[in-house]
Amino acid sequence: MTWDIERIKAEVTADAASAGSLDALEAVRLKYLGKKGLVPEMYAGLGSASAEEKRAIGKGANDIKVLTETLVVERKAVLALSVKRVDAFDVSIPGVCRGVGTKHLIDQTIDEICDVFECMGFVIQRGPEIESEFYNFSALNIPLDHPSRDSFDTFYLDAKDPDAIGRHLLLRSHTSPGQVRVMQKHNPPMAVIIPGKVYRPDAVDASHSFMFHQIEGLLVNKNVTFADLKGLLTAFCKKYFGYDVKMRFRPHFFPFTEPSAEVDIQSNIFKGRAGKWLEILGCGMVHPKVFEAAGYQGQEHSGFAFGMGVERIAMLKHGIGDIRTFVENDVRFLKQF
Ligand code: PHE
Repeated sequence: MTWDIERIKAEVTADAASAGSLDALEAVRLKYLGKKGLVPEMYAGLGSASAEEKRAIGKGANDIKVLTETLVVERKAVLALSVKRVDAFDVSIPGVCRGVGTKHLIDQTIDEICDVFECMGFVIQRGPEIESEFYNFSALNIPLDHPSRDSFDTFYLDAKDPDAIGRHLLLRSHTSPGQVRVMQKHNPPMAVIIPGKVYRPDAVDASHSFMFHQIEGLLVNKNVTFADLKGLLTAFCKKYFGYDVKMRFRPHFFPFTEPSAEVDIQSNIFKGRAGKWLEILGCGMVHPKVFEAAGYQGQEHSGFAFGMGVERIAMLKHGIGDIRTFVENDVRFLKQF
């Protein structure tokens, strides 16, 4: 068999020059130098060749081998250079915008609600999430072992309460203990708003979570009446849910307020809930026992308190059907707000 050495050399040169990637270049190398490549094939045919042919083919094969190796090294350098070029800093390429984060919808809702009350003169206060039975229950007129504790189902901690022998600390099940803490520190008149996380061992589903947020309100002065409470909450609902909001105060029971009520509203801003009464908060006049536990003496004080669930309000306002979406951290959900 005879080989056109010059033609093969031209082919190797063209193949190497047109290899556009390191993988393509490796394919070129294998085509000539690989086990099944052209050069080994040339050597394999030497056995049946004449002495003169052997010399010519041997030299030709060796030339092709050297040429291929040289071209591959050279082409590799060129390709590496072009890869670097892509990485290099090009001032003319438009910049990549970094996504700007937003406040979580729960924080936004807390801010909006607190803003409304701050405009009416309320001051923001915060209480601890780890509480004692005294603040979460007893001071709020929920005696030890009283069945009404069941409605504020509670996570108890292993940690012992340093102030009550045999009792354990707990995760607060509502923000109402904040009322007592504020009253212990300050004398009336006062108007405070207490936002924060609360915990209840509820089975998680679309409308229940073991952790959620509440906003507590407390106003104490002389001669505060239920009419003041109604007036204030009406002003809040009109400002927050729209001036055409409809409200009703439904009698209810809380151990720490007397009388107590729940507030239901109808608002056009609740998508798909037109004409439905939706409960948004609990409220009432502060029970004398709570003033007593907070250390207020005499009869001259009166006040009201209210508490609302932040997730519930955000869900109603934004038409969110599942409370779990607040904690799943799916950016597609979060960036809508
Ligand atoms: N703490 C009550 C709850 O979690 C709400 C409430 C607060 C009711 C203040 C009346 C007064 O359901």
